[in-house]
Amino acid sequence: DIIKVFCPATIANISCGFDILGLALNEVGDEMTVKKVAEPGIRITSIIGQDLPLEATKNVAGVAGLALLQDVDCDFGFDIAIDKRIKAGSGIGSSAASAAGAVWAINELLGRPLSVDQLVPYAMAGEKLASGVPHADNVAPVLFGGFTLVRSYDPLDVIRIHTPKELYATIIHPQIEVKTADSRRILKTKISLGDGVKQWGNVGGLIAGLYTEDYDLIGRSLVDHIVEPIRSMLIPGFEAIKKASMEVGALGCGISGSGPSVFAFSKGLETANSVKQAMEAVYDPLELPYETHVSGV
Ligand code: HSE
Repeated sequence: DIIKVFCPATIANISCGFDILGLALNEVGDEMTVKKVAEPGIRITSIIGQDLPLEATKNVAGVAGLALLQDVDCDFGFDIAIDKRIKAGSGIGSSAASAAGAVWAINELLGRPLSVDQLVPYAMAGEKLASGVPHADNVAPVLFGGFTLVRSYDPLDVIRIHTPKELYATIIHPQIEVKTADSRRILKTKISLGDGVKQWGNVGGLIAGLYTEDYDLIGRSLVDHIVEPIRSMLIPGFEAIKKASMEVGALGCGISGSGPSVFAFSKGLETANSVKQAMEAVYDPLELPYETHVSGV
């Protein structure tokens, strides 16, 4: 009656797919231990690594879990301990990892009354607490693994997308905090038809590239005419990171989720490691601490 789950970090948006595309990282994530206990409800018993609220109604894992418990038949409760390795506000889905991890683990301990598809809205309830908006592009890949597409929010329709075998992600996380709610507020709410045409061309190209494992097509499609020009202003050295990554062979580069993390895709681990070095060379002279990760997807 105890389960330990890996809650992967995620890259949402993936340049052209604001609020609809996301992917889970294989090697970066939190660990969560969930235990079935007699006392009904949810308690967050410990959080290692981050200073986050323990009160269940103020914690994304607690809120997601409580939302799930409202809809299932359950006369016991759950204690949740989180080893939080993904920093809050990093742009690689810290809140999504906790929200989706909690509902996934609780559903397992309940004997899987719900399908993974059915878990998405509960995880979104937790995500809403953190970002103000219940977007699903981070929680869906945590629950399903690999790439996911939110084809529609109303009704919710999440599609799993094929993951090319040799695709790796490199991520640099400048140690500044960008709150998702803030970086959503600065976005325009209207786009031009011309920008729409460019954007959905790239979304279609990216999906086609993922299925056919056409790495050049994936790279050509990692373009964002709508959100990136605005949000990149919040990220020191963004253009320099992009340029340096592309010079050493990255397929493409963009903002991870709402930032400040920046991601690049590469074909093969070797190139992904060169991209890491290139990103670090941009940041080393700046007096700004950072973290880098290389991961399979
Ligand atoms: N799609 C969301 C956004 C992801 O860009 O605001 C947040 O991580």
